[in-house]
Formats: sequence, structure tokens, C-alpha cells
Amino acid sequence: MTKQVKKTALSGVQPTGKPHIGNYFGAMRQFVELQNTYGGFFMIADYHALNSVQSAKDLKENIVDVALDYLAIGLDPSKATIFKQSDVSAHTELSWIFDTITTVAFLMRAHAFKDAEAKNKEISVGTFNYPMLMAADILLYDVDVVPVGADQKQHVEITRDTAEKFNRIFGETFKLPEALIMKDVGTVPGTDGQKMSKSYRNTIPLFATDDEIEKAVMSIVTDSEGGMPKNVYEIHKLFLPKEKLDQLYSEKAGKYKDLKEVLIADIKKFVTPLREKRAGLAKDKAAVIKILKDGGEKARAQAEAKMKVVRKNIGVSLY
Ligand code: TYM
Repeated sequence: MTKQVKKTALSGVQPTGKPHIGNYFGAMRQFVELQNTYGGFFMIADYHALNSVQSAKDLKENIVDVALDYLAIGLDPSKATIFKQSDVSAHTELSWIFDTITTVAFLMRAHAFKDAEAKNKEISVGTFNYPMLMAADILLYDVDVVPVGADQKQHVEITRDTAEKFNRIFGETFKLPEALIMKDVGTVPGTDGQKMSKSYRNTIPLFATDDEIEKAVMSIVTDSEGGMPKNVYEIHKLFLPKEKLDQLYSEKAGKYKDLKEVLIADIKKFVTPLREKRAGLAKDKAAVIKILKDGGEKARAQAEAKMKVVRKNIGVSLY
């Protein structure tokens, strides 16, 4: 009988502030499910975040925060490798190598760059090169699937294109990964109906206090059709099975305040145990930091083995 080789999943979250329910339902929830059947690598993308968080104090705090978030939702260091990107310098090394085979025109097609450009933002070279670092994150670990929200789909496509181009130039080296995007929750809407996003200030934080939940839900914009507040429904959908949800929204058609109150209660029911678990974990920060340190060592060993092959294939390995 041939031994079934475990497939690999990798994903990451930027330590740029509090995670929201869009991050959770779109991506992080899948990490927890996948850790049981896949070899999982779950990363804190701190070098990506450096494009926007440029205070040592804030970055440090945010990194520990994401580690706590990961553990509180159920990631288990005995099953998955939890680490921070900056602990494995192969990520930035490989990103440079990818820079050398990638054209400026290709990266200018990235949505994130185009959005930043449209807003006339001063764009750092790091922001422009963002997809190359993400390609390195993924390709170092021979990843099969990348669980992400729909907004990261293009980044995974760029990763595949980069792997193909490298393989064409230097010989077969990298495995081509697939994005794993959940139907229905690929894009979780925010309180204003746009994509939920830290930068749009339309979020419901995953570990929100009761007060934050009430404020956020009450601020949901209620444009409606036939008594049905679409934005409230779309968020409520995450917390109730469809049958129950549809029954509730037909019984309470037009009663926006009542519907918002039920949503508040349902979010609280879901968030309270997570928040309590997180508060418990936060009492022992040293234990959390140790998990990251051990995860970094594991990830580094695997990434280094891959880099040996890469360096040989590009011709810089002499001894
Ligand atoms: P980040 O930190 O912006 O978001 C983390 C994850 O949350 C998903 N997400 C959403 N999903 C559904 N609806 C939403 N409204 C929503 N908002 C955010 C994101 O798609 C993401 O999966 N580039 C990545 C971090 C990263 C990464 C990687 C991911 C760095 N290296 C390698 C995978 C593999 C990012 O900025 O995610």
C-alpha cells in the first residue's frame, strides 16, 4: 500500500490591527478546519505589514495580537506551524530572486497597486513588490492550497505565474498552488455594504466587546427591498443557517430595529466564548512568543531546504 502524503496549506494575516469577522469567515476559519487534514503553515505577515505599520511598538504588539487571534480561534501548534514571516529570511531572499524575473508592467496590473494609484497614494517600493513577497511565502513550502478571501485571488494567480516563469527559465523547481476561496463568504460585506476592510472603517471586530458589537450593528446601512434590509441580512447569514435566517427575515419583514437586535444577540453568542478564550491566552504572552519561536524554527528548516535547490538552480551555489 502506498503511503498517502499529506497535502500542504499555507496562509497569512497581516498584523495591521484587529481582525474582523470578514477575515474570520473569509479565511481564518478555514485555517482551523484545514489543520486537521493538511500540513498547515499559518503565518503572521509582518514584513508585508511594515508597508503600513511603521512603529516598532505597534508592530510588536500587533504580531503578538495575531498570534493570540490564531490560538483563540483554535489553531493548534501541535498540528500546524504557526510562525512569523520575518523569522524566515528565505522569504525576502526568494522575493528578490522573483523581482529579477518579473517585469514592472506585470506588477502594475495588480489590483492593490492600481487601487493605491487611483487614490493618488505615495506608493512604496514594498507595496509595489508586495505580490513577489507573497509568492515567496507560498512557493517556499511546496504548497497545494492557499485558503484566502476573494480579494487575494489575484495574488495567488500572480504566484502561479511567477512559479511557472521560474520553472521555465531555471527548470522545474516550484509546485503550482491553488487558491481556496469559500463560496458565499469570499467577500464578507461591511456595515456600509462595501467589502469589510480595516481601511474602510466598516468592520465588526472578531473579538469585539458587547458595546462594539452593538455600535457596529446599529450603524449598518439599511437600504432595503420589500422590507428586507440587505446589509443586515448579508452579515446575519454568517451566524445562522439559511432556513432559520429566511424564516426570521420573513416574520420580521420591515422591522429593521428588531432584526438588528437579533443580529446583535447572535453575534454576541458567537463572539463571547472566543473573546474569553483569547483573554485567557493573553495572560501568558511568554507562552505565545515561544509558540512563534518554535514555529519559526520549523518553518526555517523547510524553507532553507527549498532555498538550497533554488540557489543551485539559478547558479549561485558554488560549495
Ligand atoms: P489580510 O491580512 O488583508 O487579510 C487576511 C485574510 O482575510 C481575508 N479577508 C476577507 N475575506 C472575506 N471578506 C472580507 N471582507 C475580507 N477581508 C479580508 C483576506 O482575503 C485574507 O485571506 N496578502 C494577505 C496576507 C498574506 C498571505 C500570504 C496570504 C501574506 N502572505 C501568503 C496567503 C498566503 C493579506 O493582506 O491578508
